[in-house]
Amino acid sequence: MSRNLHRGAEDAANPAANPTFSEVLLSRRSLLTTGLGGVAFAALGGCGMLTGRPDIGFTAVPVSSDDLLRVPAEYDAQVLYRWGDSVGVPEAMPPFKSDASNTAAEQAVQAGMHHDGMHFFPLPRGSRDSTHGLLAMNHEYLDEGLLFPDGQKTWSVEKVLKAQHAVGVSVIEIRLESGQWTVVRPSRYARRITARSECALAGPAATHPLMRTAADPVGRIVRGTHSCCAHGWTPWGTYLTCEENWHVYFVNTGALTDDQRRYRLSAKGRGVRWEEHDERFDAGRHPNEFHRFGWVVEIDPYDPLTVPIKRTALGRFAHEGAACLVGRDRRFAFYMGDDAAFEYIYKFVPAKPWQPGNRDGNRNLLDAGTLYVARFSADGTGTWLPLVHGTGPLTAANGFHDQGEVVVRTRQAADALSATKMDRTEWIVPHPATGEVYCSCTNNAERGREGNEGPNPANRRAPNPYGHIIRWREDKGSPAATRFTWDVFVEAGPDGGGTVKGDPFACPDGLWIDGRGTLWVETDISPTSLLRGRFAPLGNNQLLAVDPSTGVFRRFLTGPRGCEITGFHTTPDTRTAFVNIQHPGEAPGDRSDPGRPRALSNWPDFAADGRPRSATVVIRRRDGGVIGT
Ligand code: FEO
Ligand code: CA
Ligand code: CA
Repeated sequence: MSRNLHRGAEDAANPAANPTFSEVLLSRRSLLTTGLGGVAFAALGGCGMLTGRPDIGFTAVPVSSDDLLRVPAEYDAQVLYRWGDSVGVPEAMPPFKSDASNTAAEQAVQAGMHHDGMHFFPLPRGSRDSTHGLLAMNHEYLDEGLLFPDGQKTWSVEKVLKAQHAVGVSVIEIRLESGQWTVVRPSRYARRITARSECALAGPAATHPLMRTAADPVGRIVRGTHSCCAHGWTPWGTYLTCEENWHVYFVNTGALTDDQRRYRLSAKGRGVRWEEHDERFDAGRHPNEFHRFGWVVEIDPYDPLTVPIKRTALGRFAHEGAACLVGRDRRFAFYMGDDAAFEYIYKFVPAKPWQPGNRDGNRNLLDAGTLYVARFSADGTGTWLPLVHGTGPLTAANGFHDQGEVVVRTRQAADALSATKMDRTEWIVPHPATGEVYCSCTNNAERGREGNEGPNPANRRAPNPYGHIIRWREDKGSPAATRFTWDVFVEAGPDGGGTVKGDPFACPDGLWIDGRGTLWVETDISPTSLLRGRFAPLGNNQLLAVDPSTGVFRRFLTGPRGCEITGFHTTPDTRTAFVNIQHPGEAPGDRSDPGRPRALSNWPDFAADGRPRSATVVIRRRDGGVIGT
């Protein structure tokens, strides 16, 4: 997600006067043992399985400012699924038109724009097959300058429909044959979920008065999901898509309520005028529609007839992702960042353990459990504070009348508990063997500025233009613990600007730990900064590999100009990697000039009359070996 969606008046919208820690000594002994040398105590149930040890041996690629995707010499990269490619539903497989003249109806059965979080689900379900499966992925947002032949010059119902069809989720069927991955078309699994698809509401906010609208007086059915950023998955094989910057599609030209201000609503939003042709996005007229986004949405990729379900027990905020850690007792937790400056880190612990093989019994486990928010203390310990109605300040006297209201107003509830304000938490990923949980704090240029909060132990730089990765370990390795220990794994930055060992980087965003324990870090330096000033030595955005036990980073991939790297993911055998190249050629301000659509990038087609296209790329070692070696 571009920094442009996180800035402006929105940046300092958390007014809560939580305790700051700037007075305390910021350097301290690490309380965590590092990496795999420690005891592997949080062995996983269903979320993953360690199949080896990190053996990082590839030839590092140099920094690049070229309009090319580069991988190590011993690897191949293959473009698999671009914006506008047919998803493969049997009813219709319209070809992409390079002048962006595909209709809204065609866009509804083609890949959306701005690919983001992604997960491989083996076929058949429950297997660890690494040659055939489903790829579920998010299409986070849009470059309206590329989506339409004339960009944003005019607006119409048709254009708003096309925009709403170009975000959401894709599920595609893919297969490896003779060393090449292909999208299976047609496929009975192929599916697009868009900002117009029917979704159900479940959990404590379902049917709540705050969720009822003119179109849905019961508060059970929402039209669509959008702004789907990073992702999550469940041990029972479902996909979680996470609604992040949904607020910018809403506007309210009247007086904002406190709640709308806390959720960073503005009079103008992103300026893409959905409200003119779909009035539910006018939060002045339909205030409760604004409550029906900002959730984690569960999707069954194996059954295209199932309805996506917004799991409200996991809270409402700018959800980046929802990363699962399973303990030995099959209790489990989902870790979730709220990606906005000075917001919080949450976890949700379902009330019941999951049961292998009992898919029906697991189906609604995300509707009951405890939502927590993190407080990081200066002594290297931390506390998960429960967001439970009736406990602490979360009472009717303070405006929280029931658990539905706590989850709809998650940010205010977390404010009341004095949680720790973070530097824009992006992806979170648990280590499948050690149980350590790694979390990107991508940057926060506002920290310490203009009356904003200064440094705290978990966010030590003010301002923090380069970001850092923090990690924690639950007490006794239990995902259900309410206490943890933590340390800062790395402070990013160009040479001399951080604590990076090995190849320097900045603005960590996407994270993945593969089946051998290699941590993969993707960067998202805003195109406004890209190749400029102090960011210039870092070149285009990149993907790096690091063995958590050594902390030495090695650059594996560089992207084309103006892109962000995201979605990195590996098959169970770690011999195929998938990565998403989001918004190649993105201009400052997010929107390309439709008269000069190739001004910065023409990746990946390089067609004379074409436009840059976000795309999923498959990476294999030429000898079929393990990714990262
Ligand atoms: Fe969509 Fe926080 O990145
Ligand atoms: Ca980002
Ligand atoms: Ca992100």
